[in-house]
Amino acid sequence: MQILGICGSLRKASLNMAALRACNELLPQGMSLRITSIADLPMFNQDVFDAGLPEPVKKLRSEITEADGVLIASPEYNFSLSAALKNAIDWSSRPPNQSWQDKPVAVFSASGGPLGGARVQYDIRRILGQLWAHVLPRPEVFIGGAQGKVDAQGKITDEATRKFLTDLLAGFGPWITRMKK
Ligand SMILES: Cc1cc2nc3c(=O)[nH]c(=O)nc-3n(C[C@H](O)[C@H](O)[C@H](O)COP(=O)(O)O)c2cc1C
Repeated sequence: MQILGICGSLRKASLNMAALRACNELLPQGMSLRITSIADLPMFNQDVFDAGLPEPVKKLRSEITEADGVLIASPEYNFSLSAALKNAIDWSSRPPNQSWQDKPVAVFSASGGPLGGARVQYDIRRILGQLWAHVLPRPEVFIGGAQGKVDAQGKITDEATRKFLTDLLAGFGPWITRMKK
């Protein structure tokens, strides 16, 4: 199973990106993860869309379409999605051939705050649900106080966090199989 990783934070020292990279070591057998970048996407503009998709948009849309599943690591900005992640979803959501149709998705969030991005995940689920993506309902993984749990090299330094992410990835495989039936 080929999983596409998308991180909603653009910053170099992103805790979400560090945790997403760390997932590479936690994947169950038969699953591989490739992380893409959403940093080069222009801001969504329907006129630009209609005139012809910019290359980074084409690339992202085909990466999502081709992946067996998408793993999203998201920060919480003002109780919701980062503009970067919403923009990436908007570009990939427009017909024809919107990229999220029937796509299995798993989500986790990491935040410096104590709730670990609990609120952003419900917005992501709501947005992707109406695009007919299938977001894994459980386990929910919120990495709160993430500075002390993931280091800059993308290593998880907290055992509970390692277990939560391992369980999420272990649940994602059967979810992909089930959603493809
Ligand atoms: C514009 C902005 C809004 C934020 N709002 C929230 C928030 O609503 N909840 C929260 O837990 N953290 C919030 N934070 C703090 C982020 O959780 C923290 O910066 C986190 O490290 C961002 O993820 P990253 O490390 O992957 O970049 C906010 C940060 C920014 C820049």
